[in-house]
Amino acid sequence: MVKTFRHLGNADLIFGNGKVSTVPDLVTSDGPVLVLTGNHFPHTQAWKNLEDGFRNCGIHVVRETVSGEPSPEMVDALVETARKNGTASVVAIGGGSVLDAGKAAAAMLRHEGSIFDYLEGVGSWEPEAKTAPMIAVPTTAGTGSEATKNAVISRRGADGFKKSLRHDAFIPGIAIIDPELAVGCPPNVTIACGMDAFCQLLESFISTGATPLTDILARDGLCRFGKGSKLFAENRFGLDGEVGERSELALAAYYSGLTLANAGLGTVHGLAGPIGAYSEVPHGVACGLLVGPVFRRIADRLVDEDGLEVLDRLAYAGAVLHRGADAVPERGDVDRLIDRFGEWADQLPRLSDYGMSETEIDTIVAASANKNSPVVLSESERRDALVEVL
Ligand SMILES: [Fe+2]
Repeated sequence: MVKTFRHLGNADLIFGNGKVSTVPDLVTSDGPVLVLTGNHFPHTQAWKNLEDGFRNCGIHVVRETVSGEPSPEMVDALVETARKNGTASVVAIGGGSVLDAGKAAAAMLRHEGSIFDYLEGVGSWEPEAKTAPMIAVPTTAGTGSEATKNAVISRRGADGFKKSLRHDAFIPGIAIIDPELAVGCPPNVTIACGMDAFCQLLESFISTGATPLTDILARDGLCRFGKGSKLFAENRFGLDGEVGERSELALAAYYSGLTLANAGLGTVHGLAGPIGAYSEVPHGVACGLLVGPVFRRIADRLVDEDGLEVLDRLAYAGAVLHRGADAVPERGDVDRLIDRFGEWADQLPRLSDYGMSETEIDTIVAASANKNSPVVLSESERRDALVEVL
């Protein structure tokens, strides 16, 4: 019997090298467009070409730069700028932070008040099913934000939080995935973003909320990640096959956005959220460091408990990472998978490199969760996992 499920995604997905050039043709609203980018993109040839494209279509652009994770104040300021200029739609071109800022700004263009009032666990108002038209163009292969219905909004420090503005209506109507945009992305950023996408695929693959459709996407995403991760596993940056590997990572990251949005995540993300709220540790680094310690504990518990199906899924992930998509999984692939996490984590900084110390650990553990993990790790197990990567 097929279980009951629901699946949400973009109304329109465009995937392919050079497809960022189609953005101006896809803008349907009248009036100026709010275009959000990161710091780097405005200095690229792709941006110059895009500016020409907007000009040729007679579209006035109001461009703003998004630096770092969006805060409530940043989103409110973007919305104020957009309203002042009469913009009716939003295009976001960048990493997860730029896309989240764009999704939030598009939503708030159709809502009264501050975004603060609508954030989960912070404000007291419910967002409504209305948003300005939004085109999301990721330039990194990581969060999969282009496929999801939430925008993560952060405030750092003692009263810090990392909360979502969330509604089914906030999934960007159009996602354009152009793998060429990630060429030149530095190795450390590529690895950290890849770790995030990989964790999202793996956690949603074993999630208690997994569906028949997320299973298909997660399996294919893990295979594609296996192919694409050769880029950093074998240091193939700048070589001939780079754009091919980037395209595998880009599609894997997109799938990870769909699977996390429809199946949910697990303990790695349940810890990475509070880490991001209380420290400067990038999300992908937190995921890449924790995936080994967390999954080793999960795998140990599955041996004792009745978790054979989950173990089979972990073995599948290990098999496709080590031997390719046609590999027949065997139980030893679970250990190989966890060993591979250690190799990746060795390429990342540690939590203490971002100033984190034991004093923050208790606060982070108290704010952490297991989300949809099939194995519930206790607070002390989560604490031990964190201390391992300090
Ligand atoms: Fe993530």
